[in-house]
Amino acid sequence: MKSIHDAVDHKLFSEEDIDEMTTRLGKQLTKDYAGKRVLVVGALKGAIFFMVDLLKKMDLPCDIDFIDVSSYGNGTESSGKITVTHDLEADVTGRDVLIVEDIVDTGLTLKFMKDEMIKRGAKSVKCCVLLNKTARRTTEVEVEYYGTHVGNEFVIGYGMDFAGLYRNLPYVGVIKPQVVEEFSKKHENDN
Ligand code: PRP
Repeated sequence: MKSIHDAVDHKLFSEEDIDEMTTRLGKQLTKDYAGKRVLVVGALKGAIFFMVDLLKKMDLPCDIDFIDVSSYGNGTESSGKITVTHDLEADVTGRDVLIVEDIVDTGLTLKFMKDEMIKRGAKSVKCCVLLNKTARRTTEVEVEYYGTHVGNEFVIGYGMDFAGLYRNLPYVGVIKPQVVEEFSKKHENDN
């Protein structure tokens, strides 16, 4: 039987590395948001693994909610076009909002979400991101909290997908180029 681990060229961040990052970030957030009730907003779907682990390290009263903002097609390049495909249930008016993301790449998605929360009347809007891919940033957006920098590689696992797959790898890895090539070949006549 084929394993999902076979799609990984090499591991970038192990489960232990991720645990260290969530512990550090959780402690910092606990300090910075002391005395506040935070509305933690997870950006579906990639953020869910990180969000769950991070929340468990935050010793704060938190509400949680989700938004799905779609910016990628099926491939590895951002389409640049952003649409809300699943909206929050919560009213963000007057709330301290913390957006949780798995990765910031061009920054378009995060900028869109931050602007949207401010537009809706949030008292404060900050973000906590696992991976900060600064090399591909095209939009100026502040990333207040992040786990680590990542280079310009296509990463999968711990929430991050390629064509919908590999989110459930428990670590972050770089995808094998063959996997991308095979997918492109299979779908070259799709458009
Ligand atoms: C990924 C990721 C961020 C966004 C980052 O989401 O989770 O939301 O792309 O890219 P950007 O900085 O270039 O905007 P994606 O749209 O792939 O959805 P997913 O979380 O469901 O995988």
